[in-house]
Amino acid sequence: MIKFKRFLRCFSLLFLFSQTIEASATDERGQLINLQTKDLSMIMAVGKDSVVYFHHFGRKIEDASPYLNKQTYRRVDYGTDPHAYLAAGGSSYREPALRVTHSDGDLNTELAYVGHQQEQLAGGNVVRTTITMQDKKLPLVVELVVTAYRQENVFTQKVNIKNKEEQDVVLYNFYSSYLPIRAKKYYLNSFHGAWAQEMFMEESLLNHGVKTIENRMGVRTTHTENPSFVLALDMPLNENAGDAIGGALAWSGNYKLNFQVDEFDILGITAGINPYASEYRLAPGETFHTPEMIYTYSTYGAGGVSRNLHDWARRYQVYDADTIRPTLLNSWEGAYFTFDEKTITDMMGDAADMGLELFVLDDGWFGNKYPRNSSRQGLGDWQVTEEKLPHGIAYLADYAVSKGLQFGIWIEPEMVNPKSELAEKHPDWIVQAKGRPVPTTRNQWLLDMTNPEVQNFVFGVFDDVMRQSNNISYIKWDANRHVESVGSAFLAADRQSHFWIKYIQGLYSVYERIRAKYPDVLVQACSSGGGRVDYGALKYHQEVWTSDNTDARSRIFIQYGTNMIYPALVTGSHVSAVPNHQTGNVTPLKFRFDLAMSGRFGMELQPKDLSNEEKAFARVAIENYKGIRDIVMEGDLYRIISPYEGKGLYAIMYVSKDKGRAVVFDYCFEYQGRTHNSQLLRLYGLDPSRQYRVSELNVEKSVFWGNDKAFSGEYLINEGINPKLEKMYESAIFLLEEVD
Ligand code: GLA
Repeated sequence: MIKFKRFLRCFSLLFLFSQTIEASATDERGQLINLQTKDLSMIMAVGKDSVVYFHHFGRKIEDASPYLNKQTYRRVDYGTDPHAYLAAGGSSYREPALRVTHSDGDLNTELAYVGHQQEQLAGGNVVRTTITMQDKKLPLVVELVVTAYRQENVFTQKVNIKNKEEQDVVLYNFYSSYLPIRAKKYYLNSFHGAWAQEMFMEESLLNHGVKTIENRMGVRTTHTENPSFVLALDMPLNENAGDAIGGALAWSGNYKLNFQVDEFDILGITAGINPYASEYRLAPGETFHTPEMIYTYSTYGAGGVSRNLHDWARRYQVYDADTIRPTLLNSWEGAYFTFDEKTITDMMGDAADMGLELFVLDDGWFGNKYPRNSSRQGLGDWQVTEEKLPHGIAYLADYAVSKGLQFGIWIEPEMVNPKSELAEKHPDWIVQAKGRPVPTTRNQWLLDMTNPEVQNFVFGVFDDVMRQSNNISYIKWDANRHVESVGSAFLAADRQSHFWIKYIQGLYSVYERIRAKYPDVLVQACSSGGGRVDYGALKYHQEVWTSDNTDARSRIFIQYGTNMIYPALVTGSHVSAVPNHQTGNVTPLKFRFDLAMSGRFGMELQPKDLSNEEKAFARVAIENYKGIRDIVMEGDLYRIISPYEGKGLYAIMYVSKDKGRAVVFDYCFEYQGRTHNSQLLRLYGLDPSRQYRVSELNVEKSVFWGNDKAFSGEYLINEGINPKLEKMYESAIFLLEEVD
């Protein structure tokens, strides 16, 4: 049924209801471009000078006709009016979306409207508008493609740059989108961090000048910053009120999002691939396709931004979002590199006994000349270590299936240890600048994915592993280093700067081949944890490994930030051992379970180290999770208390789309003492006219006086519930179910 729904959606997106409306510069009706979703408008108009001007992004305006004659009283000769896609040259001087050197050496580009056309897709829910512009002097064509997703209130933008000149055109800036916004004040909320500390949220008031979010690490792009943001307009970001724009770039390579407040207090957002060291020679006849920049606008603060993005992502971007994700046990923190067949089969037995559904064999299973017994060797040699696992992968996969589990396995196909047969055989496949030392990170090098031979190899690693058994249903795809000492033996000397782009295009082309051959396998994007958390990767992956930090306290902040932009169904969240292997923190097992249950649940420890009592608790909690996971994965997220409020409390809820069920997660991570009564959980997402029974999960004795009682939605929204969480690392999960 689920698969059929997916098929229908893809089918309708591609073939049904596709209808094209065309307009050209001579068509009066074509001068105003009013793109709409359910609640939003994006309005552009063609000026008398043939420039496509950007007028509005925000609340819906049905009659956009006044924009045709709107005057700004700015000096028209000063190049300050907002363009729909700003090019360098002519009278423009702000940070341009497009900057090129034309084939004749001309540095100017002045884009003029040629025409636009619209296609209706997905039964009319998706309208794609392609606005064609061309330089006034030379035949460089830019198609600005804006796609409106009606129900989800999302617009995406990208451009296709076509070189119709006679010689190469060199692209310097080639952003996906330029968005001029007007508000009294701009509060940018962006994400920052480091390995094991990803997606911490920070708000800054944008003053005049430029603020940039960017990455230059090439392939491991999202540990330090994330190509996404929530921009609050006029006032600081509020969870439930106020206007806010959410943005995210679907690209797994270097990115740059610029926020420039100009002298007219207009904020110009240029977003796309980072121009850093990436000038791109576009040959005559060639087209450059940028990735998509995704935007939403909410009049319900951050909450509205997240819900819109999650809906859009689940319907149109995340790979196979309709399939409910299995619960799992991953071997990494439980066994690391030290295991034999029995260690693994015992872990599987315990996983099955606790009610988990999938077992993932992590790093350490391959290499014979250089067995992968540590991170120092063997990476690249994807043959099973015979000494360690004499019966091979098929035996383990079959064993998992015999226990009622699915089987998954770890690979890191883009990388190689210097001490490996692969590195000995193919030194030319390694990313390195000729004549310079090749630095290692985590004892490894990067393979040059710009090279089609390497792409074939990487596809082959996946394919060969999958062919070891029909019982492999999950691949953890890791990428544990970034680009250093950039250089490609494959690219010509005058094309070295193409590396950053060609690498990611090469990676995506491998993903395409994999998806064509293996449409159903669940592929996790891992990159030392959250190093590849972006909507580009999620087009091919069902989920990400949110962070290598599995400490439940740290995860509060990491998952809060990640789920601001990305839906819970993609965020792998595991119960691990204490003291936590990354932070040393000790939290109760219940707290760890309660936190992991707010994402895609898993465990990552040696089950043998759990007591019988702990295993019994795990069994109950895993069963409970299966009862609520559809709400977590498919429901609407309402954040109730932010961990950034400073009270040491965090609470969120997910509400099913029909508002018949909801689940509330409540965590206390600082001692509350006598102030615990100040905890107020107003359950915003419910229907005020219905009755809901509140039942606490994962406990014998509830911390809420109203447990197992029914309350009106009206009461729960306006008064809420007040569970008693007092001590550090106390937590509670409540299931709400509609009653007659
Ligand atoms: C990375 C991943 C971990 C684990 C190790 C294995 O660090 O993020 O989850 O798979 O690699 O080497």
